[in-house]
Amino acid sequence: MGFVIAIDGPAAAGKGTLARKLAAHYGLPHLDTGLTYRATAKALLDAGKPLDDEAVAARMAASVDLANLDRAVLSAHDIGEAASKVAAMPAVRVALVEAQRRFASTGKGAVLDGRDIGTVVCPEAPVKLYVTADAEIRARRRYDEIVARGETADFDAILDDVRRRDARDMGRKDSPLRPADDAHLLDTSKMGIEAAFQAARALVDQRL
Ligand code: C5P
Repeated sequence: MGFVIAIDGPAAAGKGTLARKLAAHYGLPHLDTGLTYRATAKALLDAGKPLDDEAVAARMAASVDLANLDRAVLSAHDIGEAASKVAAMPAVRVALVEAQRRFASTGKGAVLDGRDIGTVVCPEAPVKLYVTADAEIRARRRYDEIVARGETADFDAILDDVRRRDARDMGRKDSPLRPADDAHLLDTSKMGIEAAFQAARALVDQRL
């Protein structure tokens, strides 16, 4: 495996933005692993299949094409909610983790972000970051994004969603969201995304 930067954390903590900035800075390919769970959920929804049939979901997961993950389509809110249900099934995770590891081990390195990169997908990664922020601040960011698109949003409903998704992702048996023992904690409620990027860069530069 090349030089992997593993980034984990809850929804809307800023890990995607941080991952993209680091990938651009170091010239590494980036995989948002959340999109692989979202693509699996969308395939099930499109096919009219239930979200809790593990064998069917695992087959869908095995056919997800990492080169064709359309963020614009997959970022819809209901797909995120469905993805978090699908992601609790071990057979789905086996299929997607295998594809994610293949991505991580091709070439000189990669940036992967998700929930279990430092703990399960790439436990040997030389740099592990755990990006978090208070639930209210993460909900506020989501709210501002939606309003900036000219759509209406209900802050309390978004905060409820953020909390429910955190509980599901942290409480599941298989690969729960948690920082790896050797992860560096970056709290973006305190430092903002640019400061988090500078801190992450300093950590990566030490390991290069
Ligand atoms: O990060 P994003 O919101 O796109 O992720 C959608 C869902 O996919 C998460 O709520 C989580 O349940 C699941 N996921 C996961 N492991 C990852 C990435 C995402 O379980 N590595």
